[in-house]
Amino acid sequence: MTQRRILVTAALPYANGPIHIGHLVEYIQTDIWVRFQKLRGHRCVFVCADDTHGTAIMIRARQENRSEVELIAEMQQRHEADFAGFDIQFDNYGSTNSEENRRLCGEIWAAVTKAGLVVDEDVEQLYDPEAQTSLADRFVRGTCPCCKTPEQYGDHCEKCLHTYSPTELIDPKSTLTGAVPEVRTSAHKFIELEQLHDFLDQWTQSGEHLQTEVANYLKGHFLGAEGDKENPRKVLRNWDVTRPPDYFGFEVPDFPGNYWYVWFDAPIGYLASTKQWCDRHGEDFDQWWRNDATEVHHFIGKDITYFHTLFWPGMLKSAGYNLPTKVHIHGFLTVGGEKMSKTKGTFVQAETYLKHLDPSYLRYYYASKLGAKLDDIDMNLEEFAAKVDSDLVGKVVNIASRSAKFAQPSGLSKTYPEDEGLFAHAAGQGADIAVAYEQCEYNKAMRLIMELAANANKYWDAKQPWLLRKDPERAAELQDVCTVALNLYRQVVVYLAPVLPRLAQQTGELLSSQITHWDDAQTPLVGVAVAPFKHLLQRVNTKDIAAMTEESKEAPTTTPASSADSDQPLLDEPLAEECSFDDFMKVDLRVARVVNAEEVPDARKLVKLTLSLGGDNQRTVFAGIKAAYQPEELVGRLVVMVANLAPRQMKFGLSEGMIIATGPGGKDVVLLQPGEGAQVGQRVH
Ligand code: 2FM
Ligand code: ZN
Repeated sequence: MTQRRILVTAALPYANGPIHIGHLVEYIQTDIWVRFQKLRGHRCVFVCADDTHGTAIMIRARQENRSEVELIAEMQQRHEADFAGFDIQFDNYGSTNSEENRRLCGEIWAAVTKAGLVVDEDVEQLYDPEAQTSLADRFVRGTCPCCKTPEQYGDHCEKCLHTYSPTELIDPKSTLTGAVPEVRTSAHKFIELEQLHDFLDQWTQSGEHLQTEVANYLKGHFLGAEGDKENPRKVLRNWDVTRPPDYFGFEVPDFPGNYWYVWFDAPIGYLASTKQWCDRHGEDFDQWWRNDATEVHHFIGKDITYFHTLFWPGMLKSAGYNLPTKVHIHGFLTVGGEKMSKTKGTFVQAETYLKHLDPSYLRYYYASKLGAKLDDIDMNLEEFAAKVDSDLVGKVVNIASRSAKFAQPSGLSKTYPEDEGLFAHAAGQGADIAVAYEQCEYNKAMRLIMELAANANKYWDAKQPWLLRKDPERAAELQDVCTVALNLYRQVVVYLAPVLPRLAQQTGELLSSQITHWDDAQTPLVGVAVAPFKHLLQRVNTKDIAAMTEESKEAPTTTPASSADSDQPLLDEPLAEECSFDDFMKVDLRVARVVNAEEVPDARKLVKLTLSLGGDNQRTVFAGIKAAYQPEELVGRLVVMVANLAPRQMKFGLSEGMIIATGPGGKDVVLLQPGEGAQVGQRVH
């Protein structure tokens, strides 16, 4: 097999909060992939760093009365301890506030400037005179200029859904200090992404670098060729990459007093961290970042798709660096089907988890759930305990604990015994398991591995070695059965080694031979000593889970490490199957007026609405919006409804349509309200 040179990154955690189990989905996923590549014998380097710049860090440091540098140093220590606790092993862990990063930012900036991509634009923004910083939209609240609802964000009203600029808000207040913001105009530098339109269109749509659902999502940013009327070419928006003072970041050399926006310097942190690693190991940086033979793999969450699939390839291309070979994008973590919640104790920090539970449990559990798609993964704590107990303890460790004790006095047989083809079968499965790992289909890899563990247990049970043990004359037979069982066990552990490095290490000690290569599963071990058996993995104690949840309930409210400076749209849900324009046009959306609204006794979520489409064309619709609206608030309002939906018999009556609303659900649901001048019965698209 030719040795590949692979550089891998995981997203740089933001330095304004600790790592939690949601972040760990990504770091565990990436660490498994890296360990797998290393075990296969490839040269693979895994770099990461703390993401340290931006307004959020600056404000927090001020609130805590210390310098930003002190704050980020403490956070970095905590992050690194958390990662080590979960066996996440970086080859280099840097910081975006490093000299290497400053220098590389300067170099890339010079390159994008030379390429003619940088343009000046004035930006009118609200400015907090107390904090002496301009305010991103989410740092301003005020009264909606349209419907006059108070406490709305700077860019849109949650009540009436209007979007506006923060300067239009009535009575705006800074959420940082409560001060009344001033309107200030400042000069910013932008990157004109549109100049890279054709390159980015081609790169994102080539089918090689992105998951299909991501490529399809991004397609909408480019659309058709010049002159295609049906499908007009879209213009990519300029990207605002500098910030006026006060800002915590690097000053832009040719724009004194202004700073690079955190999202400009954050991904350059991937390069800077590689540079540190190269310097420490006498490696040539250009071999890793300017050489076609090197693969670059980024692992990220779907919320930062934009940065890694448009801006970042654009920057790399302009500066002559390798483009990402693949951006692997994963979904979010939910717990018990819901967002992690501090009140329910499901917002578990890495540190808290480690106080109560073994990190191997979580590594295995995530591996058993992770596929190559963007689907969110749901952590169900009962399932978590059951899976660990039945798979890891009941199937895997069980083979070793039963056979090692019997084998200890004699060690393994000198030649590998007849085993009904079991070892050869498991050796053959190595190829499929490897493909599953390579493609990030860990759930499939775990399934295949557990089948092998089940075969080993069946073999053990069928041979009834406990009976052989009673008969001294059958000692050789017993030794052979143990040799087979322990070899089948070792194969399973070789395949699980990327997920469970501790178990791999302990197994190496047990069988006097460390696992160092994937191909260790191809040749049985013979004639070696078996060390006295030590416990490998315990069953999950549900009391520990309860204690962890309880402690998480009490955890202080800290802002989670996240893309805190991101103003970009989220890719929240994997896209549904494509629907044609004609399909879409079949949906007849009409403006309707709510003429009556009433509670539905016994229904938890429903309100019964009578909608008028004009004249005596009235419809009854049951809508699941009870948590968000009182029936009486709704009467008289205009809404948008799907008017040609086939009637549906519900428990409480016939529903003759559907009304359109947006939002995550529950209380956070907003009815789609037609603009001024809309007429009842009018078609909306
Ligand atoms: O979303 C986040 O938490 C960011 N700190 C990730 C940065 S990744 C990279 F671009 F630096
Ligand atoms: Zn409003």
